Amino acid sequence: SLPRVYITRQIPPEGSHFFDLWDSDDVPVPRKELLQKVKGVDALLCVLTEKIDAELLDAAGPNLRVLSTMSVGFDHLSLEELKKRSVTSDLLPLVYGVNGEYGTTEIWYGDMGNMVLLRYSVMGNMVTLRYGKYVSMDELASQSDFLTVCCALTPETKDICNKDLFSKMKKTSIFINTSRGGVVHQEDLYEALSSGQIAGAGLDVTVPEPLPTSHPLFTLNNCVILPHIASASYTTRNAMSALAANNLLLGLKGQPMIKELKL
Ligand code: GLV
Ligand code: GLV
Repeated sequence: SLPRVYITRQIPPEGSHFFDLWDSDDVPVPRKELLQKVKGVDALLCVLTEKIDAELLDAAGPNLRVLSTMSVGFDHLSLEELKKRSVTSDLLPLVYGVNGEYGTTEIWYGDMGNMVLLRYSVMGNMVTLRYGKYVSMDELASQSDFLTVCCALTPETKDICNKDLFSKMKKTSIFINTSRGGVVHQEDLYEALSSGQIAGAGLDVTVPEPLPTSHPLFTLNNCVILPHIASASYTTRNAMSALAANNLLLGLKGQPMIKELKL
């Protein structure tokens, strides 16, 4: 019989026309409904608003073989739980956007740093260096005019952008976060911005999201805040949905996934 797939949010048609999906305009699927809908599915295509944890995997049951997330981040996935189950039930979660081996969970990291660098250099020759090199956090903080964070949120990266880091940055430098709010200690960032320790910040991500307008960061005139929309161009989201869908199908066929986002 044909595999059954459930998609947790409206995603562009490139990736969704052959699936059953939650089709409300802009609210995430309510958890209760999600737990119902995933019962018995072979594959699940999710976005970062869904927590993929033990409860969800239990609700889905043993048919679930492939999990494909339409996101670069994977902090909404319980990797431990996926790893545990991939041993016992043949679950092959596909996590698009990230690198390396995690049990039978395939994860790959993009080279986002290099992509960001390329765009800056295209935008205005702000960067003459085409390729990055690895340096210590101290050197990175003290040398950078723009410090852009693109890493995943993991126990190791939680709060790594804190007063220690800000105190090493130049007073003229700009801090940018497009990864996850949790990598930044927000009170320390507020201090650094309000005291003039650093010149400014641009945040696509915060804790929580969206950040309440009463939050102290909104009182600053050197901080720009967006509601987690950095990937929200038609081109990017279309490509992400097609990649997530293709990888889901490849996963169901037991074939290796595509690791390149075609823009
Ligand atoms: C966006 O935040 C993503 O993880 O793709
Ligand atoms: C945000 O940038 C997302 O991919 O939802």
